[in-house]
This record gives sequence, structure tokens and C-alpha cells, in this order.
Amino acid sequence: MSPELERVSGLIREVADFPQPGVLFRDLSPLLADAEGFRVVVEEMAAHGADADVVVGIEARGFLLGAALALRLGLGVVGVRKPGKLPAVAHRIDYALEYGTATLELPEAALRPGSRALVVDDVLATGGTVEAACALVEHAEAEVSAVSVVMELAALNGRGRLAGRKVRSLLTV
Ligand code: PRP
Ligand code: HPA
Repeated sequence: MSPELERVSGLIREVADFPQPGVLFRDLSPLLADAEGFRVVVEEMAAHGADADVVVGIEARGFLLGAALALRLGLGVVGVRKPGKLPAVAHRIDYALEYGTATLELPEAALRPGSRALVVDDVLATGGTVEAACALVEHAEAEVSAVSVVMELAALNGRGRLAGRKVRSLLTV
């Protein structure tokens, strides 16, 4: 691993028993708050997003990364949201999480059919969230060009769930 990514790794905090007992939560807040760490992450993600024509960021930390990445790549950004936030929903998906269940919604009039979306989030755990976001993209008749995350929790095998997709993680634990 490059010294830059070693440093990025050191900026991710582990929080025990969040959001429920038994879960070791990787908190990227210190990394995102660090100018150099944030820059390295966005540059690394951008290096693998060249063939996309839109970025899809997943609420909430995927918004921070996705917006920066879109600006860096000269692309627009679409936010895939938790329920009840959007005035007009194109499509909604319920899915299972490492710790409970969740719903994601795609806004209407945002993702153009035929576009190639780079799907972005902070952490890939079970893969349920990214899988749901990819399904929303495809429901809009757009294509997933790749999935990009900062950290992959290998034990939860999200990559297995996303078999057949191009998945890039900067760090694997
Ligand atoms: C976290 C993380 C991913 C998802 C990963 O979001 O930011 O979106 O879980 O888990 P999975 O691979 O098992 O689906 P969280 O649900 O904590 O929501 P938040 O970003 O709004 O805090
Ligand atoms: N950090 C952030 N999001 C997550 C995690 C984590 O450790 N596990 C599942 N989603």
C-alpha cells in the first residue's frame, strides 16, 4: 500500500458497538475532515472513474465523496436517498443491512436513460446498499460503469453480492 493510503487508513476510526452491540463501525469522519486525506481519496477514486458520465452518491457519506468526485471528473451528481426526503421519487427499493433494514429512493428527472453511472459510497459491508443503488440505476435504464468505495469489509463479502460488477475499494479490512 502507498504511504498516502497508509495515512488515509490511519484516519479511519473504529467505534465499537455502533449502531448496535457487536458492530465495529468504521467512522470516516476524521478522514473526510483531513484536507490531504480527503484529497487523496478523491484523486484515487477519480483515477477509476474515467468512463462514467455521471456520479451516483449514496446518502449520507456517499454524498460527500460523490459530489467531490463529480466535480473532479467534470460530471454531475445524483443523490440516492433515504426514504421521505425526495419530492418526487422515480423508484424505491427496500433491502437488508448488516444491522437492520433500509430503503433507498432515486429522484425523478435526474438520471438520464443510457447514462453510465459511477456508484460511490464510503463503506462496502454486506453490499446491500450498493446493490440497491445499482438496481435503482438500472431501473432508470442507465448503466453502472463501476462501483467505488473507500473501504471494503471483506468478512461481510459485499463483493460476492456484487459479482459481475466492477468494484474498486481503496482499502480492504
Ligand atoms: C452505511 C454505509 C453504507 C452502508 C454499507 O450507511 O455508509 O451506505 O451502510 O452497508 P452494506 O454494504 O451492508 O449495505 P448507513 O446505513 O450507516 O447510513 P448513513 O450513511 O446514512 O449513516
Ligand atoms: N462503517 C460505515 N458504514 C457501515 C459500516 C461501517 O463500519 N458497516 C456497515 N455500514
